[in-house]
Amino acid sequence: MEIELRAEVPEGTGAVIRVGVEGSPPDGIDAASLASLGFTGKAGQLASLPHRDGPVTIVAGLGSRAQVDAATVRRSVAAASRVARGHRLVVTDVQGALGDEVSAAAEAQAVAEGLVLGLYRFHAYKSADDPVRVERLVFQGKGGARVQAALDAGARIADGVGLARDLVNEPGGSLTPSAMAEIAVEVAERENLRVTVWGPDELADAGMGGILGVNRGSDQEPRLVELVFEPERPRGRLALVGKGITFDSGGLSLKTGEGMMAMKNDMAGAAAVLGAMSSLAAVKPRCAVHAYLPLTDNMTGGDATRPGDILRIHDGTTVEVLNTDAEGRLVLADALSLASEAGPDAIVDIATLTGAVEVALGNRIAGLMGNHDGWVAAVGEAAERAGERVWPLPLAEEYRPWLESQVADLRNIPTVPRKAGTITAGLFLREFVGDGIPWSHLDIAGTSWSTESKGLDVPGGTGWGVRTLLELARGFRRPR
Ligand code: BES
Ligand code: MN
Ligand code: ZN
Repeated sequence: MEIELRAEVPEGTGAVIRVGVEGSPPDGIDAASLASLGFTGKAGQLASLPHRDGPVTIVAGLGSRAQVDAATVRRSVAAASRVARGHRLVVTDVQGALGDEVSAAAEAQAVAEGLVLGLYRFHAYKSADDPVRVERLVFQGKGGARVQAALDAGARIADGVGLARDLVNEPGGSLTPSAMAEIAVEVAERENLRVTVWGPDELADAGMGGILGVNRGSDQEPRLVELVFEPERPRGRLALVGKGITFDSGGLSLKTGEGMMAMKNDMAGAAAVLGAMSSLAAVKPRCAVHAYLPLTDNMTGGDATRPGDILRIHDGTTVEVLNTDAEGRLVLADALSLASEAGPDAIVDIATLTGAVEVALGNRIAGLMGNHDGWVAAVGEAAERAGERVWPLPLAEEYRPWLESQVADLRNIPTVPRKAGTITAGLFLREFVGDGIPWSHLDIAGTSWSTESKGLDVPGGTGWGVRTLLELARGFRRPR
C-alpha cells in the first residue's frame, strides 16, 4: 500500500499514531490521561485515546530515549498500526522520533515498514476474519521527494516481507514445489528478472542428487529456480541460496506429529530469498544478484531415500544419508555447488536448517556462520542495519571429523549426536562452496516462525531475512 507524505493531518482521519519515550509524553497529549491508562512510555506499551469528534490517538512506547533506534520505531509503529487496523484512514505523527542523528529518510523508511508490516494478515482461509479496513496511509511530516521515496522504498520492502510470510503461511499441501516455482516466475515477470526453472529431467541431467534424493519419497515433482537481477554495468555479483523444503515430514527418519506441525515453514529460506528478489528494485543494488531456490518436500513414499543410501551431489561429492530428516543440507549442497560454478563474488545462504539453533539462540536471533571473516561481518552489519538480530557461531575444525563416513565422502549427520548441531550443519554446507568464494550461512529455524503477536510479528511466518538480504544487496562490496 502507498504511503502519502502530508504536511497536515487530513480530513476524515480515523486514527493518528504517535510515539512517546519514557518520562515525557508526546507534545499536546495530557500526561495524566496517559498515566491513568498505565502508559509510561516503556517499549511495547500502547495506549488508545479516543476523542468525541476526532480521530483516536494511539500512542506507542519507545522505551528510554537513549535507546531508541530505527528497530524500536519500526516495532512500535507496527504494534500501533495493528491496533489501528479498523480505520479507513490512518496517519502517523512521529517525525523526529529518532532525533537528529538519523536522516529523515531513514526514519520514514522504518515507519513505512512498521506501518505496512503491522497490517499484515494471512486471511486466505479464514471465513470470518477481523478485517483490516485501512484504505489510506499518511505519514504526516515535512520533507520532499527524498522522504516520499523512502516511504515508497519502506512500503516495497515490507511487501517483500509480506510475500515471504504468505509463502510460509500457505500450507505444504497447496504450496507444492511446482506452485512455488510458478510464483517465482510471476515475480520474475513483474520485476524483469531472468528466470530458469529446472524440473525433474533437467535436475537429473545436471546430477542434482541431493534434491532428487530428498524428493524420492514424494508424489510432488521437485524444482530448482534460478532468478537473476542485473543492473547496467554491475559492480560485483552476489549469490543468494534459500532452503525450499515445502514440507518436512522428516522422511523415513520420521518426525513426531508435534515435530512436524509447523514444517510448512521449512521453505522460509527460499521464501526470504524470493521476497527479497521481489523488492530488489526498491533498494537499487549496483551489483548483480543471482538467486537459487531448491524446492521439494521431504516425504515417506514407498521409494523414499532410506537411511544408509548414498547420494551424489552436483559437484560429485557422495553423501551417506543416515538420517533422512537432515535433508536441508542435501538440497543446499546441490544449490551451493551450482551457485559456485557461476563464480560469484560472494554467497549467502539462508535456511531453516537445525532445531539446535533455536535451543542456542531462541526465536529472536539467527545463527550466522561462514568461511570468510570479512563477509560474515558484512552480513552481520547488514542484519544490524535491517533491525534483524544475528549472532556468530564458529565453524570449528575440531568437529569436522564427525562428518567422515565409512563408505562415502561425507555423512549427512555427525557421528556425535546432539552436540553443536548448528555448527556441524554449517561445516557440512561449507564443503560445497567453491574454493576461495566467500560464503555466509544464516540458520533461521528459530526466527522464521512466530507464535505470538508482538512488535512486527503476528503468529506464523515472520519473513525473517528479507530485510537483511535487501540491505546486503543495497550496500554490496566485493569482500576482501
Ligand atoms: N527443518 C528441520 C529443522 C527445524 C527444526 C526447523 C525445528 C524449524 C524448527 C531440519 O530439516 C531438521 O529436521 N534438522 C534436524 C537435523 C538432525 C537430524 C541432525 C534437527 O534439527 O533435528
Ligand atoms: Mn528435516
Ligand atoms: Zn528441514
